Amino acid sequence: MIKACLFDLDGVIVDTARFHYIAWKSLANELGFEFTEKDNERLKGVSRMKSLDILLEIGQLTFTELEKEKLADRKNKLYVSYIEQMTPNDTLPGVASFLTGLSEKGIKTALGSASKNAPLILERIGLGHLFDAIVDGNSISSAKPDPEVFLKGAELLGVAPENCVVFEDAVAGLEAARNAGMPCIGIGDPEILNLADKVIPGFENFGVNDLIKFYS
Ligand code: BG6
Ligand code: MG
Repeated sequence: MIKACLFDLDGVIVDTARFHYIAWKSLANELGFEFTEKDNERLKGVSRMKSLDILLEIGQLTFTELEKEKLADRKNKLYVSYIEQMTPNDTLPGVASFLTGLSEKGIKTALGSASKNAPLILERIGLGHLFDAIVDGNSISSAKPDPEVFLKGAELLGVAPENCVVFEDAVAGLEAARNAGMPCIGIGDPEILNLADKVIPGFENFGVNDLIKFYS
C-alpha cells in the first residue's frame, strides 16, 4: 500500500540538466578542454564534488582540494545565475497536478534531492508548499546511491520504506531507492532505467490513479 511518494528534483520536477551542462561546459572550456552532452549524462544524480571529479578526469587535470572547492564554487555561481531566472513555468508538465492529486488522496510527499540548490529551485517554481518533507544536499552526508536521502525522507514522514514510492531519472537514484528497500518509478529511458518497477516519460499522462493501480 502506498502511503508516501518521494521525488528526486533535477530531471523529475524540473529540467535543470541543461543548466548544469552549460555551467560545467563553461568551466571545462576555461580549463582548456571540451565537455560534451554525452559526458554530462555521467553527472546526473551525482553530487557536485563528485561531478567535478568526473569533469577533471575527462580533462585529465589534477587539483588540490582547496582549488577544487574554488572550481566547484565558480561553476555553482554560474549555475545559480541560470536557476535564478526560473519561474513556475519551468516545472515539468503534469508535476504540479500529480502532487496536488497525492495530497487529495492523503498520500504524503517528500523531496529527496542531492542538490544544495533545492531550496532556491523550489522557491523559484513555487512548489515548496506541496511537499510534506524536504531532504536535500544540505541535510545529507552520503550521496546517492547511498539510501540516506530517501530513508531520511521516509523517517520524516513517518512511513515505512516499503510503503514509499520513489520517482527518479538517474541510475544512481534508482540504486539509492533499491538500497532503501523502496519501490521506484523511472522518468526517462527504459533501457537506461531498467532498475525501476516501471518507466514513464513524465507526469503528463500518468496520474495518481495510474500509480495506485500499478501497485495494487
Ligand atoms: C543532482 C543533479 O540532483 O544534484 C546533479 O542530478 C547535481 O547533476 C547534484 O550535480 C548536486 O547539485 P547542486 O545544485 O548541489 O550542485
Ligand atoms: Mg535527477
